[in-house]
Amino acid sequence: MTDRYHVSRRQAAKILGGAVAGSLLPISASRLWGANETSTMITRAVPSSGEKVPVIGLGTWQTFDVGSGASERAPLELVLSELVKLGGRVIDSSPMYGRSEEVIGDLAAKLGLQGKLFLATKVWTSGRQAGIDSMERSFTRFKTKRIDLMQVHNLVDVTTHLQTMREWKAAGRFRYIGVTHYNDSAFPEVEKVLRSEKLDFLQINYSLVEPEADQRILPLAQERGVAMMINRPFGGGDLFRRVRSKPLPEWAAEFDCHSWAQFLLKWILGHAAVTCVIPATADPEHLRDNAMAGTGRLPDLKTRQRMAEYVAKL
Ligand SMILES: NC(=O)c1ccc[n+]([C@@H]2O[C@H](COP(=O)([O-])OP(=O)(O)OC[C@H]3O[C@@H](n4cnc5c(N)ncnc54)[C@H](OP(=O)(O)O)[C@@H]3O)[C@@H](O)[C@H]2O)c1
Repeated sequence: MTDRYHVSRRQAAKILGGAVAGSLLPISASRLWGANETSTMITRAVPSSGEKVPVIGLGTWQTFDVGSGASERAPLELVLSELVKLGGRVIDSSPMYGRSEEVIGDLAAKLGLQGKLFLATKVWTSGRQAGIDSMERSFTRFKTKRIDLMQVHNLVDVTTHLQTMREWKAAGRFRYIGVTHYNDSAFPEVEKVLRSEKLDFLQINYSLVEPEADQRILPLAQERGVAMMINRPFGGGDLFRRVRSKPLPEWAAEFDCHSWAQFLLKWILGHAAVTCVIPATADPEHLRDNAMAGTGRLPDLKTRQRMAEYVAKL
């Protein structure tokens, strides 16, 4: 069975060049589609637990900040159901993203996905009590008793919130805790927190336009056993403006890459310290495109260098 947003075994094989071939990097993969549909979404282990998470997740900044009207919600419902159908599970939000948490909670309930998603959100305020109030609201909006990952958004009042988050993790309300940032200028501060605090996850920006994290942050996270969630994989969308009208190099097919979105995401996933990446989209076709980046072969070090050089010249 196929429909507009569903890739059959035959289509997947065609897209992947006839086979889900052996990766150029050591990766783990699991079969995640139904009986008649087969593909693989690569998974990677969270270092602090060994739990495997799918490498392609979903960001929700701007895209999920919508009202309750059917026309606004329908594409997002499809985006979320496609994510899960294609083997994804991780979804990232924040109280900073307007109605995003509430929309995720409503759609997860409607689609019967409660307990099946990996829910990540953030605390973005100052002061212990304000943090507690904010995190309680996240539980209510998600309609859940347990949040998979709570993160301190942009390191705001980081020491205060990490203390509460540790207590709530011990009580079983959070499974993992972490911190986030989106700007290279904060990397010295991020590095300090990474060295001094015990974190499960770090979420930061990393892409072909913002590659600075591979200098110090990614190796340090690897050394400290911290999972890396990557935000702004398309530079907030800017990267598409640069590459969109240019040809995808033919050699991209050598690592099962068939679109610019997959090129940009596979470059990120080619770094072994990366656990998962969370591109945002409100378009089901884009979601499907992005999900395919989490299948097949990934570029090795030499190929990643070639990819960076190719994009730099565009
Ligand atoms: N401080 C923080 O904690 C922080 C900061 C920034 C981001 N984040 C998280 O990271 C997520 C991702 O970052 P981001 O939203 O800033 O930017 P992004 O994921 O780099 O880019 C999103 C843009 O790319 C477009 N897009 C997505 N897939 C596409 C495809 N296959 N083809 C063409 N266009 C595509 C989207 O438009 P369409 O809707 O049209 O697809 C959207 O305009 C956020 O949503 C948020 O969850 C966290």
